[in-house]
Amino acid sequence: MRILGIETSCDETSAAVVEETGDAATPWAIRSNVVASQVTIHREWGGVVPELASRQHIRDICGVVERALESSGVAWGDLGGISVTQGPGLVGSLLVGVAFAKAAAAAMRLPIVAVHHLVGHIESLTLENGELPLPAIVLVVSGGHTSLFLVAQPGQYQLLSRTRDDAAGEAYDKVAKLLGLGYPGGPIVDRLARAGDDRAVPLPTTRLTHADRNHPELKGDLDFSFSGLKTAVSHYVRQKGKLEERDIGDICASFQRIVVKALVEQTFDAARRYRARSVGVAGGVSANSRLREELKIRGDARELPTFVPSLQLSTDNAAMIAAAGLRVFRAGPASSLDFNADASLGLPA
Ligand code: KG4
Ligand code: ZN
Repeated sequence: MRILGIETSCDETSAAVVEETGDAATPWAIRSNVVASQVTIHREWGGVVPELASRQHIRDICGVVERALESSGVAWGDLGGISVTQGPGLVGSLLVGVAFAKAAAAAMRLPIVAVHHLVGHIESLTLENGELPLPAIVLVVSGGHTSLFLVAQPGQYQLLSRTRDDAAGEAYDKVAKLLGLGYPGGPIVDRLARAGDDRAVPLPTTRLTHADRNHPELKGDLDFSFSGLKTAVSHYVRQKGKLEERDIGDICASFQRIVVKALVEQTFDAARRYRARSVGVAGGVSANSRLREELKIRGDARELPTFVPSLQLSTDNAAMIAAAGLRVFRAGPASSLDFNADASLGLPA
């Protein structure tokens, strides 16, 4: 089966063609994966402007889908289905992908499945590495999410914990903004941190022990919190006054050390607790160089295979949505056409 994936949850318009290989160990192969990034539009505003994002998705969606089909060498008639991100994300952005996918499915008489965006990120790991040794602990860490999942069986995703406030990528972007570094901040902070002293700036670590009142089913001690850290950076910057280049490097390195430590420690704590046979980290922040290094070191020390996506699949893309869609198609019936975009979509039961 070949499937067209469509992703428009935030500020990337993406379409991809992914096919089944017939090999259970590495079930899917990418035929094409086209991403139109809106970063130059939002950079001017220092963050994603939802209204501008949805308008740009409308401009880009047809061309992006055409290019994805063309470069895959797959015609509409060769497709077995369409898979689209239903949520979570920006509702105006999601609507463009959902409306396009439904219209295409109706016109071409193709079955359609609605996919959870974070499930797409989780499946980006299988797409490149084949089925992970299960149970696996997977951290999805991006501009909108910092969530830990237990994957006990293929296609089953149990949320173990999440951030109580800012996502890690959001904290990177906010710290970059208050240092005047530009958008998106993650890659810039990552680069400047290399020249800094990661112990130069005293910053707090957060360890949560009590249950989250909004999510009583989550225990709480594996939760994340990054807003206190961001505030501490902001206080430090205000106190310091004029910042030299060296100060900026030191702040970036110190901030990054704390964020990466929290991400790696909670992930491996969960892995130990759930006797995981592998660990995965996906989402935009998985591109971070220090996070990648420390995951490798910790994975080697624990003799746990540790997976991160290639840089191309770590940020938002439709190949991961197509892969997640193929899993749904194999497991059961397609969605009916009456589903809608859902900005705060929960996980599939
Ligand atoms: O997954 P993604 O493309 O979009 C969301 O679903 O949010 O992630 C984007 C986020 C941004 O916050 C960006 O700053 C962050 O990922 N990011 C990084 C790096 N590259 C991207 N954060 C830290 N280090 C990086 N190298
Ligand atoms: Zn994402």
